[in-house]
Amino acid sequence: MGSRRFFLKLLAFSALIAPFIPIGRYLQRREKVDQIKQRVANINELKSLGEINFVFPRTGDPEQDMDPFRQYALILTPTGEVRALSRVCVHLWCLWKYDPNLAECICPCHGSVYNPDTGVATKGPAYYQPYPTNALPMLKVELNEDGDIYVSQLDGIVGYGREWKKDLANIQSMLRKAPDKEIRAYTPFWKSITITETEKLIRRYNIKVLKIYGYVKRGKETEWLVAGSLDEAKEKMEWVYSIEIFAKPGEILKVADDDRVIIPMIRGNVKP
Ligand code: FES
Repeated sequence: MGSRRFFLKLLAFSALIAPFIPIGRYLQRREKVDQIKQRVANINELKSLGEINFVFPRTGDPEQDMDPFRQYALILTPTGEVRALSRVCVHLWCLWKYDPNLAECICPCHGSVYNPDTGVATKGPAYYQPYPTNALPMLKVELNEDGDIYVSQLDGIVGYGREWKKDLANIQSMLRKAPDKEIRAYTPFWKSITITETEKLIRRYNIKVLKIYGYVKRGKETEWLVAGSLDEAKEKMEWVYSIEIFAKPGEILKVADDDRVIIPMIRGNVKP
Protein backbone atom coordinates (compact mmCIF):
# COMPACT_ATOMS: atom_id res chain seq x y z
CA MET A 1 0.00 0.00 0.00
CA GLY A 2 1.23 3.49 -0.72
CA SER A 3 2.62 6.00 1.72
CA ARG A 4 0.58 8.69 3.46
CA ARG A 5 1.80 11.15 0.83
CA PHE A 6 0.60 8.88 -1.93
CA PHE A 7 -2.78 8.51 -0.24
CA LEU A 8 -3.15 12.28 0.21
CA LYS A 9 -2.27 12.74 -3.45
CA LEU A 10 -5.00 10.29 -4.33
CA LEU A 11 -7.50 12.11 -2.15
CA ALA A 12 -6.64 15.37 -3.86
CA PHE A 13 -6.89 13.82 -7.27
CA SER A 14 -10.15 12.06 -6.48
CA ALA A 15 -11.73 15.46 -5.93
CA LEU A 16 -10.92 16.24 -9.56
CA ILE A 17 -12.10 13.04 -11.14
CA ALA A 18 -15.11 12.21 -9.03
CA PRO A 19 -16.42 15.24 -7.20
CA PHE A 20 -19.77 13.61 -6.57
CA ILE A 21 -18.45 10.40 -5.05
CA PRO A 22 -18.76 10.39 -1.26
CA ILE A 23 -15.22 9.71 -0.12
CA GLY A 24 -16.36 8.94 3.43
CA ARG A 25 -18.20 5.92 2.15
CA TYR A 26 -15.02 4.74 0.50
CA LEU A 27 -12.94 5.27 3.63
CA GLN A 28 -15.40 3.26 5.69
CA ARG A 29 -14.95 0.43 3.28
CA ARG A 30 -11.19 0.21 3.68
CA GLU A 31 -10.40 -3.06 5.36
CA LYS A 32 -7.23 -4.61 6.69
CA VAL A 33 -6.70 -7.34 4.13
CA ASP A 34 -2.94 -7.79 4.49
CA GLN A 35 -3.23 -10.96 6.57
CA ILE A 36 -5.85 -12.66 4.43
CA LYS A 37 -4.90 -15.45 2.04
CA GLN A 38 -7.79 -16.91 0.12
CA ARG A 39 -8.11 -19.84 -2.30
CA VAL A 40 -9.85 -18.83 -5.52
CA ALA A 41 -9.75 -21.80 -7.90
CA ASN A 42 -7.56 -24.51 -9.34
CA ILE A 43 -5.35 -23.68 -12.31
CA ASN A 44 -7.18 -26.30 -14.42
CA GLU A 45 -10.49 -24.48 -13.87
CA LEU A 46 -8.82 -21.22 -14.85
CA LYS A 47 -7.27 -22.77 -17.96
CA SER A 48 -10.67 -24.00 -19.14
CA LEU A 49 -12.54 -20.77 -18.32
CA GLY A 50 -9.83 -18.16 -19.03
CA GLU A 51 -11.27 -15.88 -16.36
CA ILE A 52 -12.96 -16.32 -12.98
CA ASN A 53 -14.66 -13.49 -11.11
CA PHE A 54 -14.37 -13.78 -7.34
CA VAL A 55 -14.99 -11.95 -4.07
CA PHE A 56 -12.11 -10.85 -1.82
CA PRO A 57 -12.11 -10.94 1.09
CA ARG A 58 -15.04 -13.34 1.06
CA THR A 59 -17.30 -13.00 4.13
CA GLY A 60 -20.07 -15.52 3.44
CA ASP A 61 -22.64 -12.74 3.91
CA PRO A 62 -24.36 -12.37 0.48
CA GLU A 63 -24.97 -8.64 0.95
CA GLN A 64 -21.37 -7.83 1.91
CA ASP A 65 -20.02 -10.13 -0.77
CA MET A 66 -21.93 -8.20 -3.44
CA ASP A 67 -20.03 -5.01 -2.59
CA PRO A 68 -18.28 -3.85 -5.80
CA PHE A 69 -15.16 -3.08 -3.77
CA ARG A 70 -14.82 -6.81 -3.10
CA GLN A 71 -15.05 -7.83 -6.78
CA TYR A 72 -11.94 -9.17 -8.50
CA ALA A 73 -11.14 -11.08 -11.67
CA LEU A 74 -8.63 -13.91 -11.93
CA ILE A 75 -7.31 -13.91 -15.48
CA LEU A 76 -5.05 -16.24 -17.42
CA THR A 77 -3.48 -13.73 -19.79
CA PRO A 78 -2.30 -14.60 -23.33
CA THR A 79 1.28 -14.50 -22.01
CA GLY A 80 0.44 -17.34 -19.60
CA GLU A 81 0.49 -15.20 -16.45
CA VAL A 82 -2.17 -15.38 -13.76
CA ARG A 83 -3.41 -11.98 -12.60
CA ALA A 84 -5.92 -11.02 -9.91
CA LEU A 85 -7.20 -7.49 -10.57
CA SER A 86 -9.77 -5.32 -8.82
CA ARG A 87 -12.83 -5.01 -11.08
CA VAL A 88 -13.54 -1.44 -9.98
CA CYS A 89 -12.62 0.91 -12.82
CA VAL A 90 -10.33 3.69 -11.54
CA HIS A 91 -12.25 6.28 -13.56
CA LEU A 92 -15.67 6.43 -11.91
CA TRP A 93 -16.02 2.98 -10.31
CA CYS A 94 -18.05 0.92 -12.77
CA LEU A 95 -17.14 -2.77 -12.96
CA TRP A 96 -15.15 -3.71 -16.04
CA LYS A 97 -15.34 -7.04 -17.88
CA TYR A 98 -12.58 -9.13 -19.40
CA ASP A 99 -12.83 -9.77 -23.14
CA PRO A 100 -10.72 -12.87 -23.89
CA ASN A 101 -10.96 -12.30 -27.65
CA LEU A 102 -9.33 -8.89 -27.36
CA ALA A 103 -7.34 -9.78 -24.22
CA GLU A 104 -8.50 -6.52 -22.68
CA CYS A 105 -10.37 -5.49 -19.55
CA ILE A 106 -13.09 -3.16 -20.83
CA CYS A 107 -15.22 -0.79 -18.78
CA PRO A 108 -18.75 -0.49 -20.20
CA CYS A 109 -19.39 2.99 -18.76
CA HIS A 110 -16.96 5.28 -20.58
CA GLY A 111 -14.72 2.86 -22.44
CA SER A 112 -11.58 2.66 -20.32
CA VAL A 113 -9.47 -0.33 -21.32
CA TYR A 114 -6.83 -2.06 -19.20
CA ASN A 115 -3.96 -4.34 -20.14
CA PRO A 116 -4.62 -7.58 -18.18
CA ASP A 117 -0.91 -8.26 -17.64
CA THR A 118 -0.12 -4.91 -16.05
CA GLY A 119 -3.57 -3.68 -14.96
CA VAL A 120 -2.59 -0.30 -16.45
CA ALA A 121 -5.19 1.63 -18.49
CA THR A 122 -4.32 1.80 -22.19
CA LYS A 123 -7.38 3.64 -23.55
CA GLY A 124 -10.30 5.78 -22.39
CA PRO A 125 -10.56 8.25 -19.52
CA ALA A 126 -8.61 6.11 -17.05
CA TYR A 127 -5.66 6.21 -19.47
CA TYR A 128 -5.56 10.02 -19.17
CA GLN A 129 -5.50 9.98 -15.38
CA PRO A 130 -2.03 10.66 -14.01
CA TYR A 131 0.13 7.98 -12.47
CA PRO A 132 -0.58 6.22 -10.10
CA THR A 133 -4.32 6.63 -10.60
CA ASN A 134 -4.35 4.88 -13.99
CA ALA A 135 -3.80 1.30 -12.85
CA LEU A 136 -6.00 -1.32 -11.24
CA PRO A 137 -5.08 -2.60 -7.79
CA MET A 138 -3.74 -6.13 -7.96
CA LEU A 139 -3.60 -9.05 -5.53
CA LYS A 140 -0.55 -11.23 -5.11
CA VAL A 141 -1.11 -14.63 -6.75
CA GLU A 142 0.46 -17.89 -5.57
CA LEU A 143 0.06 -21.43 -6.84
CA ASN A 144 0.62 -24.52 -4.66
CA GLU A 145 1.84 -27.91 -5.90
CA ASP A 146 -1.76 -29.09 -6.47
CA GLY A 147 -2.41 -26.15 -8.78
CA ASP A 148 -4.60 -24.31 -6.27
CA ILE A 149 -4.47 -20.55 -6.73
CA TYR A 150 -4.31 -18.34 -3.64
CA VAL A 151 -4.58 -14.55 -3.49
CA SER A 152 -3.37 -12.16 -0.79
CA GLN A 153 -1.72 -8.76 -0.16
CA LEU A 154 -3.62 -6.15 -2.12
CA ASP A 155 -1.30 -3.77 -3.95
CA GLY A 156 -3.06 -0.42 -4.41
CA ILE A 157 -6.30 1.18 -3.26
CA VAL A 158 -9.50 -0.13 -4.81
CA GLY A 159 -11.13 2.52 -7.00
CA TYR A 160 -8.03 4.77 -6.94
CA GLY A 161 -4.97 3.11 -8.37
CA ARG A 162 -1.65 1.41 -7.83
CA GLU A 163 2.01 2.48 -7.83
CA TRP A 164 2.89 0.23 -10.70
CA LYS A 165 6.11 2.08 -11.61
CA LYS A 166 7.77 0.77 -8.47
CA ASP A 167 9.02 -2.09 -10.66
CA LEU A 168 11.30 0.52 -12.21
CA ALA A 169 12.72 1.26 -8.77
CA ASN A 170 13.71 -2.42 -8.53
CA ILE A 171 15.52 -2.19 -11.85
CA GLN A 172 17.25 1.03 -10.73
CA SER A 173 18.37 -0.72 -7.56
CA MET A 174 19.73 -3.60 -9.67
CA LEU A 175 21.60 -1.03 -11.76
CA ARG A 176 23.38 0.14 -8.60
CA LYS A 177 24.07 -3.33 -7.19
CA ALA A 178 24.86 -5.44 -10.27
CA PRO A 179 24.95 -3.28 -13.41
CA ASP A 180 26.33 -6.09 -15.60
CA LYS A 181 23.90 -8.80 -14.57
CA GLU A 182 21.35 -9.44 -17.29
CA ILE A 183 17.75 -9.85 -16.22
CA ARG A 184 14.53 -10.90 -17.92
CA ALA A 185 11.80 -8.33 -18.25
CA TYR A 186 8.32 -8.69 -19.70
CA THR A 187 7.77 -5.50 -21.71
CA PRO A 188 4.22 -4.77 -22.90
CA PHE A 189 3.32 -1.94 -25.30
CA TRP A 190 0.51 0.58 -24.89
CA LYS A 191 -0.78 -0.39 -28.34
CA SER A 192 0.14 -3.37 -30.48
CA ILE A 193 2.88 -2.59 -33.00
CA THR A 194 3.67 -4.20 -36.35
CA ILE A 195 6.33 -6.83 -36.68
CA THR A 196 8.44 -4.35 -38.72
CA GLU A 197 8.23 -1.77 -35.96
CA THR A 198 9.13 -4.48 -33.44
CA GLU A 199 12.24 -5.33 -35.43
CA LYS A 200 13.28 -1.66 -35.52
CA LEU A 201 12.74 -1.32 -31.78
CA ILE A 202 14.87 -4.41 -31.03
CA ARG A 203 17.67 -3.12 -33.26
CA ARG A 204 17.45 0.41 -31.88
CA TYR A 205 18.04 -0.72 -28.30
CA ASN A 206 20.27 -3.64 -29.30
CA ILE A 207 18.57 -5.97 -26.83
CA LYS A 208 18.24 -9.75 -26.69
CA VAL A 209 14.67 -10.89 -27.07
CA LEU A 210 13.63 -14.18 -25.50
CA LYS A 211 9.98 -14.19 -26.52
CA ILE A 212 7.66 -12.19 -28.71
CA TYR A 213 3.94 -12.12 -27.93
CA GLY A 214 1.58 -11.24 -30.74
CA TYR A 215 -1.36 -12.28 -32.81
CA VAL A 216 -2.93 -12.58 -36.23
CA LYS A 217 -6.49 -11.66 -37.06
CA ARG A 218 -8.51 -14.32 -38.89
CA GLY A 219 -11.80 -12.63 -39.65
CA LYS A 220 -13.31 -11.86 -36.27
CA GLU A 221 -11.07 -14.34 -34.47
CA THR A 222 -7.74 -13.46 -32.90
CA GLU A 223 -5.08 -16.13 -32.79
CA TRP A 224 -2.67 -15.44 -29.92
CA LEU A 225 0.89 -16.53 -30.64
CA VAL A 226 4.26 -16.71 -28.93
CA ALA A 227 7.54 -16.78 -30.85
CA GLY A 228 11.02 -17.57 -29.55
CA SER A 229 12.81 -15.38 -32.09
CA LEU A 230 12.22 -12.46 -34.41
CA ASP A 231 12.42 -14.75 -37.47
CA GLU A 232 9.74 -17.01 -36.02
CA ALA A 233 7.59 -14.00 -35.17
CA LYS A 234 7.92 -12.68 -38.72
CA GLU A 235 6.56 -15.98 -40.03
CA LYS A 236 3.70 -16.31 -37.57
CA MET A 237 2.31 -12.93 -36.50
CA GLU A 238 1.24 -9.53 -37.76
CA TRP A 239 0.95 -7.63 -34.50
CA VAL A 240 3.06 -7.63 -31.37
CA TYR A 241 1.78 -6.52 -27.98
CA SER A 242 4.75 -7.46 -25.81
CA ILE A 243 8.33 -8.71 -25.85
CA GLU A 244 10.33 -10.47 -23.18
CA ILE A 245 13.83 -9.05 -23.11
CA PHE A 246 17.08 -10.18 -21.53
CA ALA A 247 19.37 -7.26 -20.86
CA LYS A 248 21.41 -5.32 -18.30
CA PRO A 249 19.41 -3.04 -15.96
CA GLY A 250 20.73 0.11 -17.69
CA GLU A 251 19.60 -1.19 -21.09
CA ILE A 252 16.18 -2.09 -19.73
CA LEU A 253 15.78 1.42 -18.31
CA LYS A 254 16.47 2.87 -21.76
CA VAL A 255 13.72 0.66 -23.20
CA ALA A 256 11.44 1.84 -20.36
CA ASP A 257 11.79 5.41 -21.67
CA ASP A 258 10.39 4.46 -25.07
CA ASP A 259 6.93 6.01 -25.51
CA ARG A 260 5.52 2.74 -26.84
CA VAL A 261 6.41 0.77 -23.71
CA ILE A 262 4.09 0.63 -20.69
CA ILE A 263 6.70 -0.73 -18.32
CA PRO A 264 9.31 -3.49 -18.22
CA MET A 265 8.25 -5.93 -15.49
CA ILE A 266 10.87 -8.23 -14.03
CA ARG A 267 9.83 -11.84 -14.67
CA GLY A 268 9.26 -14.19 -11.77
CA ASN A 269 5.55 -14.16 -11.09
CA VAL A 270 3.37 -17.23 -11.11
CA LYS A 271 3.42 -19.19 -14.33
CA PRO A 272 1.05 -22.11 -14.83
S1 FES B 1 -16.18 4.27 -14.97
FE1 FES B 1 -14.96 3.07 -16.23
S2 FES B 1 -14.53 4.31 -17.89
FE2 FES B 1 -15.69 5.55 -16.60
